Amino acid sequence: MNAEQKPAPSQWQPGVTPDEVMHRHGMIGKPVSRLDGPLKVAGKARFAAEVPYEHLAHAALVHSSIARGRISELKTEAARAAPGVILVLTYQNMPRLQNPPLFGSAPKAVGASTLPVMQNEHITWNGQPVALVLAETHEQAEYAASLIEVRYDVLPAKTDFDAAKRQARAPDTILGEPPAIEIGDAEANLQAAAFKVDATYRTPRYNHNAIELHAATVAWQGDELTVHDATQMLNGTAWTIAQLFGIDEKNVRVLSPYVGGGFGGKALWDHQILAIAAARLAQRPVRIVLSRASVFRIVGGRTTTEQRVALGATQDGQLTALIHTGVAAMTPYNACPEQFSFPARHLYATQALKVAQQVADMDMMVNTFMRAPGESIGTFALESAIDELAGQMQLCPIELRRRIEPSKDPVSGLPFSSRHLLEAYQRGAERFGWDQRNPVPRSRRDGEWLIGMGVATATYPYYRMPGAAARIKLTNDGHLTVSIAAHEMGMGTATAQSQHVAERFGLPLEQVTFELGDTTLAAGSLAGGSSQTASIAAAVIAAGEQLIDQLLMLATGDSPLAGFKRDQVEAINGGLAVRGDTTRAETYAAILQRAGRTALQCEAPAPEPAELQHYSMHSFGAQFCEVKVSAITGEVRVTRFLGSFDTGRILNPKTAASQFRGGIVMGIGLALTEATEFDPRSGRIMNPSLAEYHVPVHLDVPEIDVMWTDIADPHSPIGARGIGEIGITGVGAAIANAVYNATGKRIRDLPITLDKLL
Ligand code: MOS
Repeated sequence: MNAEQKPAPSQWQPGVTPDEVMHRHGMIGKPVSRLDGPLKVAGKARFAAEVPYEHLAHAALVHSSIARGRISELKTEAARAAPGVILVLTYQNMPRLQNPPLFGSAPKAVGASTLPVMQNEHITWNGQPVALVLAETHEQAEYAASLIEVRYDVLPAKTDFDAAKRQARAPDTILGEPPAIEIGDAEANLQAAAFKVDATYRTPRYNHNAIELHAATVAWQGDELTVHDATQMLNGTAWTIAQLFGIDEKNVRVLSPYVGGGFGGKALWDHQILAIAAARLAQRPVRIVLSRASVFRIVGGRTTTEQRVALGATQDGQLTALIHTGVAAMTPYNACPEQFSFPARHLYATQALKVAQQVADMDMMVNTFMRAPGESIGTFALESAIDELAGQMQLCPIELRRRIEPSKDPVSGLPFSSRHLLEAYQRGAERFGWDQRNPVPRSRRDGEWLIGMGVATATYPYYRMPGAAARIKLTNDGHLTVSIAAHEMGMGTATAQSQHVAERFGLPLEQVTFELGDTTLAAGSLAGGSSQTASIAAAVIAAGEQLIDQLLMLATGDSPLAGFKRDQVEAINGGLAVRGDTTRAETYAAILQRAGRTALQCEAPAPEPAELQHYSMHSFGAQFCEVKVSAITGEVRVTRFLGSFDTGRILNPKTAASQFRGGIVMGIGLALTEATEFDPRSGRIMNPSLAEYHVPVHLDVPEIDVMWTDIADPHSPIGARGIGEIGITGVGAAIANAVYNATGKRIRDLPITLDKLL
């Protein structure tokens, strides 16, 4: 046991004794297979588009073909007369709704934009829904939608990033952080530095392509609304819909037990709102399943950026200046400025720091969170520049990072809660065979293939969202059920939390049920910001303490536990035992049975995330990549990849490995194959399909090795820091750095397509 693995006072729950489950291994740390896996393999997991209703009506959308202007004429007669059509919804007959409350504007607000949803004739982006057709079948709805003719008065639109960025503005805030920070005089230090890099990096638009298409099945019963949705924000969706439709939040039930991939995109968009309105008008339950093209048109993605990174260093490799500034495309209606400067605020020691982010308003679909928004493309720029600096200094890029490792947070001055980046580098380098790398570019070749290696830092913040609670029910057969409106998007939420609950209460996995995906359960928190595991674990801990207090109140009379308090007992072998004397024990079943109780239930909220005020909390990693680049065609193939992570404690190595690998696969797409082709003449997305928008497929992805330090963070619940997003960070730079090592060409413009290498 090293120092970090010893229990330390917990700052996330001030004043409470250390949580010993944080350090107990048994159920936690086991590679348990996903509990929902058999249901999915057998086709028994029911997704939002599969919920059956009688008299179900099917919806299809018509999208605007201009970026800005107004509808001058809507011809809907042919659609209304088409077979099976029930209703054609346009701004003319759409119920009057409030504008969506924007994400972040209230605790449960999740509106992706503040734009009204089909309330008037105005067009604000190319792809905006202008009509919804409701029909007896999906095919009839799609066909009738194709018959609708729309004419527009077209207005000039800002659809060119290079033009828009000339009028860039500073946003008020970037996810609660200041958009700009200056410590010392970074520009002056840069000028005076012995070594300097000053470069511009560009990243394109990227679109969400979860395999499950966005879908909802909605039904009204009087004033009560049920929404079966594919969402990663259940409670926020219910609240926001209630505001929009002017109904009581309690009358909105949102269910989402399974989601086929989220990545930030499974949120509240226009399609659910339109389907709910159509269901009300038609007095029928309604299903909407977006086509892949519709997902591109009405679900936001990662936005365009142009970033400057400048580094100044002394002869011995200390940073004197770190500058990371730039512009991201955005709209005035949303709140996602793409926090690309966040990594530079916390990663490296520097005498002077300057970060500044601006946004450039465009007439386009609002952008949104997409797996490590900001950090994925911010690390591309920053970690490419670090590599450029190391090359100039003729220093190993890992050694350079060792020299600029900070002892405390460079901006806040707070201590890191737990940071083992150098250990991740060292262990990764050994396993990957980093010593095989020739630092001289273009020095390894195998026939037509130039071979290179690159490395980059991965980082993602620790977040814990307020608002989560847990409901626990213990029955007199000793079975324990925990219920939270949490989300299962394929990452293994129920599995990891069942392991946590089993460990915490001393139960075998079969005696534990973890219920999620329904707003009638205790409030969850959104599955975003890699925060869900810690957020709901904190609630389970709080409710669990109540449960043990209640059990001890029942354990009176001849119970061996009579008179003992919570901190004098531990949960073990399906019951409670006196600490230090496990012969004085009683099972949960025996406690309930003696008390004549069939069940015991309690519910408690998680405490506020106070740990974030005391510590700088981040996850780290080292991404190692080997590529081969064809000297003839410029084609890049990733041949080997290793991610070495420091993300706190790993609850389940099997599901964790999948999260890391999935992030790296998405990073290969970000680096090499994906880009949304946006026509600046029309503001239209030109490649809205998986045939033309290239997500990496099996042949693009090598064996991906992953490893982790597994050092518990003493200041997060159960020591875990979240793993959903860090896997994609650093990948773009690791690949670009490997391409440079292979070819001697520094590509600062993603994706690295072959034309840029010829
Ligand atoms: Mo993540 S982009 O917060 O789902």
